[in-house]
Amino acid sequence: MSARRRIAVLASGGGSNLQAIVDHLAARGERRAGDVVLVVAGRETAGALDRARRAGIETAVATPAALGTVLGERAIDLVVLAGYLSLVPEEVTTRWAGRMLNVHPALLPAFGGPGLYGARVHRAVLESGVRVSGVTVHFVDAHYDRGPIIAQWPVPVLDADSAESLAARVLRAEHLLFPRVVDAVARGAITLGADGRVRGGFAGRAPLSLAFSLTAANEAAIADEIDALLCS
Ligand code: GRF
Repeated sequence: MSARRRIAVLASGGGSNLQAIVDHLAARGERRAGDVVLVVAGRETAGALDRARRAGIETAVATPAALGTVLGERAIDLVVLAGYLSLVPEEVTTRWAGRMLNVHPALLPAFGGPGLYGARVHRAVLESGVRVSGVTVHFVDAHYDRGPIIAQWPVPVLDADSAESLAARVLRAEHLLFPRVVDAVARGAITLGADGRVRGGFAGRAPLSLAFSLTAANEAAIADEIDALLCS
C-alpha cells in the first residue's frame, strides 16, 4: 500500500497552479510524498477541470456546502486551494486543520482578505506604490487569506508594471514555490502545531534575493534554493 498522501486541489480558474503541482510531483517520481487524486471546482466551466481530465485525475463540481462530503468520501489527506475563490466552510477548515493550504499572489497580511483576488490584488499593489510584492503560501482557516503563513517569496514591482505584467511575474514564482510546499507538507516536513505555529518551512531561514531578478536563466537556481530551504 502506498504511503503517499491523497491530495485534492480546489480551483476556480484556469488551473496553472494545479498544473505546476501535478508536473512537480511527476518530476519527483518515487520521491513524491503525495498524489493529486481529485480536482474540485465550483463550476463546470473552470479550466482546471480540463487540465485534471487530461492528467487522468478524478473531477468533481461542488458547492462549498458540499465540500466536506466530497473530500471525506475520497479520504482526502491534504486539501490544496489553487486559485479557489469561495470561502471554505468552517466545519471543513476545522476537519482539515493543518492539512489545507492556499496560495495568495501577494505578501500577506497585506493585500489579502475578502474581495482581494485575481487582478484586484495586483491593482491594489500597484495603487499602493509598494516596490515589492510576492507569493504567500499559508494554512487555511475559516477566514479569507488569514491562516498561519508557511512560506513567502518576494517579487519586484517595476515602474512599467500593469496588473497583468505583475500578475505574470508573481505567477511564475507561485509555480516554483507552491508545488514544493505542497510536497513538503505532504511529506510531514512542514506541520501546524497545536499552538497555531508553523514548524519547518522557511522558519529561521530567509530566502535569498534571487527572485528579484527571476529570469529564465536563474529559474532553476531559484527552484534549487527553495528545495534547499525546505530541506528536501
Ligand atoms: C493565482 O495567482 C492564485 O494565486 C490566485 O489566482 C491565480 C490562479 O491562477 N489566487 P491559476 O488558476 O492557478 O492559473
